Amino acid sequence: AEELKRHWYVGSIDQGTTSSRFIIFDGEGNVVAKHQIEFDNLYPKSGWHEHEPMVLLSTVEQCIKGAMEEFRKMGHTKADIRSIGITNQRETTVVWDSTTGEPLCNAIAWPDTRNKALVHELKAREGADTLSQLCGLPLSTYPSSVKLLWLLQNNDAVKQAYEDGRLAFGTVDSWLIYKLNGGAKAEKPIHVTDSTNASRTMFMNLHTLQYDDTLLKFFGIDKTKVQLPRIVPSSSATEFGKVVSGPLQGIPIAGCLGDQSSALVGQCGFSPGQAKNTYGTGCFLLYNVGTEPVISKHGLLTTVAYDWGGDKKPVYALEGSIAVAGAGVKFLMNNLGFITKSEKISELCETVTDSGGVVFVTAFSGLFAPYWIDDAKGTLFGITQHTQRGHIARATLEATCFQTKAILDAMEKESNHKITRLAVDGGMSESDLCMQTQADISGIEVDRPAMRETTALGAAIAAGLATGVWQVLEDLKDVNKNGRKVFRPKISPQQAKKRFAKWERAVEMSKGWVT
Ligand code: G3P
Repeated sequence: AEELKRHWYVGSIDQGTTSSRFIIFDGEGNVVAKHQIEFDNLYPKSGWHEHEPMVLLSTVEQCIKGAMEEFRKMGHTKADIRSIGITNQRETTVVWDSTTGEPLCNAIAWPDTRNKALVHELKAREGADTLSQLCGLPLSTYPSSVKLLWLLQNNDAVKQAYEDGRLAFGTVDSWLIYKLNGGAKAEKPIHVTDSTNASRTMFMNLHTLQYDDTLLKFFGIDKTKVQLPRIVPSSSATEFGKVVSGPLQGIPIAGCLGDQSSALVGQCGFSPGQAKNTYGTGCFLLYNVGTEPVISKHGLLTTVAYDWGGDKKPVYALEGSIAVAGAGVKFLMNNLGFITKSEKISELCETVTDSGGVVFVTAFSGLFAPYWIDDAKGTLFGITQHTQRGHIARATLEATCFQTKAILDAMEKESNHKITRLAVDGGMSESDLCMQTQADISGIEVDRPAMRETTALGAAIAAGLATGVWQVLEDLKDVNKNGRKVFRPKISPQQAKKRFAKWERAVEMSKGWVT
């Protein structure tokens, strides 16, 4: 059996904000085959950010085809794949008609701020300030609840489906699992989510891991009129069904984790006190707090880190969410034409030696953790005749590093524990310059693995644990350990403090811009 196990492979769908990918891992956590497709994000109005649900699905299916072709060329077959996992951008809200299985409108993506006025209204409601005790999230434009409520108030097709009792709601994991299982055509349609994804909706009670009537009532959601996905553990050989068509036909879906939880798992951050920061479209720092949730007083969120189910208690994390990381680089590329490829950002930064006094508060979706300023707008400070593109590029990367520093400070206050090492991954972590800046500004060691598909690896681990590829976490002790690079601070704490003070001043000044 040992011999056999070594040849098992696990697939992982990683459906993110700007791209979808499918990656096949071997039992040691190495990438064997991979296919990735970028898709269009839609910004129909200022503050609006949408995805087409069918595009999310079709890009996933194309990625599966692409990676499977590569896998087959290596001499493997579908039978070598034990199971697959799914990881996904969180909070993004998908609604579909449960009778046809078709989307009712575009998905509202997580950075969308169209519900800003609604959030202000909700904040004034009785009980608003007690919600985070139940669900770990403060009221903001970010969670799915306020996105769904906006649709119920403003979209006629959604309103009608709700009245008729045919409205199905889900985050991207639910949508993909539903469709991969055959959607409405399945004999028994599968409409589930895992507790890490459900912990981002604001509908789930963090302690019971079930929907909470107080929360649903607060948002005025009648659960007899909307079909909410059933909440199940993140790792299970039975709950997520199996792929019904295409090159993976018949393969079980056995793992499901929101992408940030998944990255923590992929970094093997299984012990309390371990932290990881993923620089994707946004940037998300998760800090493992163990089996009891800690509700933040310093602007952090509480989330389910992972939930292996059975007799194992769920593990929780404190999270610092930053809305703009890679999205800032994309902005410089797509909107300002500074570069032609994201990877060129470091090169552009290297054309100058520092940011030349420029500070860029990249508050395109307001500012998330630890500030939570809904009405902040992206603001550039310190421009002179001397300012070059390179300065603005550096200031863009620094914005994420400064916010990470603010989050680390909040984590420290919350836990009375100094984080001394930060595991990193995600697109922007490819940049040595960015990671050195992060180490400099935050005064801690930044530890980057050689294999940076940690998000996808986490979901593969969840699936592999449910299907016998790995029996216990101990079996993962050698996974993703080789070739790590550590960045150590190179500037003095005084210099770092001075730079950070300037950033904090800029944050203050970016508030309340009237549009
Ligand atoms: O909460 C949003 C997050 O899950 C999106 O992640 O990697 O697409 O920036 P990413």
